[in-house]
Amino acid sequence: MQQRVSIHGQWSSRLAFILAATGSAVGLGNIWKFPYITGEYGGGAFVLVYLACVVAIGLPVMMAEIMLGRRGRQNPINTMGTLAEEAGRSRFWSLIGWSGVLAGFLILSYYSVIAGWAIAYVFKTASGALIGVDAETAGSLFGSFVSDPWQLLAWHSLFMVLTALVIARGVQSGLERAVRWLMPGLFALLLVLLGYSISNGAFVEGLEFLFKPDFSKLSTSALLTAMGHAFFTLSLGMGAIMMYGSYLAQDASIGKTSLIIAGLDTLVALLAGMVIFPIVFANGLEPAAGPGLIFKTLPIAFGQMPMGIFFGSLFFVLLVFAAWSSAISLVEPAVAWLVENRDMSRIKATVLVALVTWALGLITVMSFSDWAFGFSFLGVQKENGLFDVLDLLTTNFMLPLGGLAIALFATWAMQRKAVTEELAMGEGLAFRGWYFLTRYVTPLGLVFVFLNGLGLL
Ligand code: TRP
Repeated sequence: MQQRVSIHGQWSSRLAFILAATGSAVGLGNIWKFPYITGEYGGGAFVLVYLACVVAIGLPVMMAEIMLGRRGRQNPINTMGTLAEEAGRSRFWSLIGWSGVLAGFLILSYYSVIAGWAIAYVFKTASGALIGVDAETAGSLFGSFVSDPWQLLAWHSLFMVLTALVIARGVQSGLERAVRWLMPGLFALLLVLLGYSISNGAFVEGLEFLFKPDFSKLSTSALLTAMGHAFFTLSLGMGAIMMYGSYLAQDASIGKTSLIIAGLDTLVALLAGMVIFPIVFANGLEPAAGPGLIFKTLPIAFGQMPMGIFFGSLFFVLLVFAAWSSAISLVEPAVAWLVENRDMSRIKATVLVALVTWALGLITVMSFSDWAFGFSFLGVQKENGLFDVLDLLTTNFMLPLGGLAIALFATWAMQRKAVTEELAMGEGLAFRGWYFLTRYVTPLGLVFVFLNGLGLL
C-alpha cells in the first residue's frame, strides 16, 4: 500500500511523539483528579481496579488508536472513514470520530476551568497568602474562591487563550520544547513534595489508604469510574491519541512507545496520591473532599515547608503547563477536521473551537456556586451539579464507548493483514497478545463493567 502523509506535518522524532503524547496524558487527570476520585471511592481497591484497567484495557486501546491514526494520517473522523472504506466496511465507523470531537469539546470546557484554578493558585501561593495556613483556612480560602463565578471566569478565559495560542501555531512547534523540560520539572517537584509527606504527613496511613485494598469499599459505580479514569488519564477513547498517531513516523514502534507513555502516566498519578493522602490524614481532612482536594491539602504543605512560597508557586506553574499540554490534544481533532474538510485556516479554526469551548465552560464556572446541586451517582454523593454531570457523561460513558468501538474496529472490522502491517511488530507473542486482548478481553471487560456499573449485572 502507498503510505499516506499527514498534511499537518510529522513529529521530528519518536521522542517528540513520546513527549507530546505523555504531555497529553499527564495533566490534571493525574494530579487533580486521580487523588480526589480515589478519595471518593475509598482508596486501595479502587486503585487496584484502575491499574488493572490501564493494563488490560488502556494499553491495548492506546496501541489500537496510534495504529489507526498512523494508517489513516488524517483527523479521526476522516481516518475512520478512510480505513473503514479500505476494509470494505461502512463509513458509519467515522461516528467514532464525531463522538470524539464532541467529547473533546465537553471535556475541555471543564478542564479549562479547573486549569484556571491552578493558575489562580500560582498567584495565591506567590503572594504569600498561604503561609502557615491550617486545614481549616485552606479549606475556606478554596471555598470562597470557587464560589465567585467572576474569578473562575477570568482564569478560565486566560487558560483558553493560552491553549488557543499553541493550537494556532500547530502542535508540533513549541510544544515539543516545552514538554521536554517541564515534564521532568513537574516530576522533580513531586519528589520534593513526597519528601515533605514522608517527614511531615501521616505517610504510612496514606500509603495504606492508597495501596491496601478493602474490597468492601468498592461501591457499584467504582468499577465504571476506575475504567473511565483509565481512559481519561491516558487521553483515550476520543481520538486525541489517534490524531497524535497520525503525525508519527512510519518506523516508530507503537508497542514500546505505548508502554512508556502509560508507564510514565501511571507513575505520576501514584506519586501524586502518595503526596496528597499523607497530608490528608495528618491534618484530619476528609479523603472524599471532592474536586477541591489538592487545593485544600497542598497549600498546607507549602505553607509549612522551607521555601514553601517558591516550591508552591513553581508547582502550580508546572501543573498549569501539564494541563496546557493536555488541553491542546482535546481539540486538535476538531481543529484538524475544520482545516482538512472546511478548508479553514488553522487560525480561524482555532478561534472558532476556542470560542465554543469557552462558552461551554460557563456551565462549569456556575456549577460551584449559583448552579450547584447535589445528586447521588450510583451510591456516590456528588455536589457540583452540571460539572459532575459533564464529567460523568464524558469520562464514564463517552470515552469507554469510544474505546470499545476502536477496539472492535481494529480487530474485527479491519483486515488482520493491514493491522499487522501497520503495527509492524511481527506475528510473535507480543503481537498475538495484543490482538487477543484487543479482540476479546478489552471489549468483554468493557461490556462487563458497563453492565455492572448500570446495576444490570
Ligand atoms: N489525559 C489528560 C489528563 O489526565 C486529559 C486529556 C487530554 C484527555 N486529552 C484527552 C482525556 C483526551 C480524555 C481524552 O489530564
